[in-house]
Amino acid sequence: MEPDVAAPLQKVFLETFGCQMNFLDSELVRGRLAERRYVFTARRDEADVVAFNTCAVRDHAEDRVRNRLHELRRAKERRPDLVVAVLGCMAQREGEALLERFPHVDILCGTREFGRIDELVERVRGGSGPIVALGEHEPLPDGRRDLSQRPQKHSAFVTIQRGCDRACTFCVVPRTRGPEVERSMDDLEAEVRALVADGVVDVTLLGQIVNAYGRKSGGDASLARLLRRLDRVDGLLRLRFVTSFPTLLTPDLMQALQDCEKVVSYLHLPVQSGSNSCLKRMARGYTVESYLRLSDRLREVAPKIELATDLIVGFCGESDAEFAATLDLVQRAEFVQAFIFKYSTRPGTAAAERMVDDVPQAVKEARNQELLRAQEEIQRRRNRARIGSIEQVLVDGPSKRDKAVLAGRTSANRMVHFRGAATLQGQVVPVRIGDATALSLSGTQVADG
Ligand code: SAH
Ligand code: F3S
Repeated sequence: MEPDVAAPLQKVFLETFGCQMNFLDSELVRGRLAERRYVFTARRDEADVVAFNTCAVRDHAEDRVRNRLHELRRAKERRPDLVVAVLGCMAQREGEALLERFPHVDILCGTREFGRIDELVERVRGGSGPIVALGEHEPLPDGRRDLSQRPQKHSAFVTIQRGCDRACTFCVVPRTRGPEVERSMDDLEAEVRALVADGVVDVTLLGQIVNAYGRKSGGDASLARLLRRLDRVDGLLRLRFVTSFPTLLTPDLMQALQDCEKVVSYLHLPVQSGSNSCLKRMARGYTVESYLRLSDRLREVAPKIELATDLIVGFCGESDAEFAATLDLVQRAEFVQAFIFKYSTRPGTAAAERMVDDVPQAVKEARNQELLRAQEEIQRRRNRARIGSIEQVLVDGPSKRDKAVLAGRTSANRMVHFRGAATLQGQVVPVRIGDATALSLSGTQVADG
């Protein structure tokens, strides 16, 4: 095809904040823009279009975007044709208030409008003035995926469900992502097969409440059935899914986790708190005892699985005794990984409207540190127990610190470092573990696992 010499290629700088779903959404956005011959740059100062794909889960994530927008004010004064776009959860949550505060923003593109980001950018470049697109143009923009935009050759995310129908009182996601919408099992299998044909060996299925998959569409769709179908895809080595909700961990799903060889031995099952009164204020719909019963049952049905979790410290009204209960749960449950967050009040949530964010920042910080230390100790002990064992490591690529050292992950998502050739990227390699810290294992490649 003849290059279009009349129009110089427009350069896009796209920065992504937040969860894996946001990173996948950014991939979709890049695909849409690439279709219209936009190119991408890692340098914001040379871009014609600056876009931020944002997160609204905690105020800190939004603050970082506000800082970026402040910084861009000057650039936009110098170059009025610069297009500034705010995409995703923060755009959806703040709406036009964001434009009042940052009048140099040209596009607000909500979480169900990604599919037409190219059209929005073109309209602004054509002189339309600011555009607010926060409706539901396309609840599932996943259909037309451009495989060439994948950031990693051997790993890929696949959205199976978007949105969330629950209303945990601290959580802004149902507001920013809307109600649950699901893709069909046929579509998903086709996408996974296409990815595997393109070199992917490691697939992570994404959903805000991923094990609710199937309840919206009815029929025979369920996460357990989907896992069983995808487990049969030749060439796929690892199948993961995030994030699950405790009460929806059915016996059927537990059995599928055990039966499916490709499903990893890692289950991310956020508990949020170890105190029943706190869980009640969070409207989680389970107790600590029922969570522990689930985890016992899981150990019986699917002994290969190790649990990871999310925890919030300093939620509204969290007393010393409630926090002590969380610390106690962490000691008892021995999670393989725990993501610990300081509570951040989110406008529009039930907690923001009906409760008081009364735990002082310093107390949140101290509880955060105490929980981190406890979890670190557990991880160190459990990781050191792997010394001498042989782990199957999926190689992600050279480690950040030393190019001769490879970084990879075990099935239970433990990071492993070992010396090896970069050509091993995307392969599963047996590694004998020689040393361990709280955060990672290290060892040497062996001939056979
Ligand atoms: N089910 C979603 C939850 C999204 S939020 C998922 O896919 O992970 C991710 C985690 O952030 C939650 O599990 C919770 O631990 C934490 N979180 C959510 N809202 C929060 C808030 N207001 N303050 C602090 N942490 C929060
Ligand atoms: Fe948020 Fe609870 Fe849904 S944490 S994403 S409202 S399951």
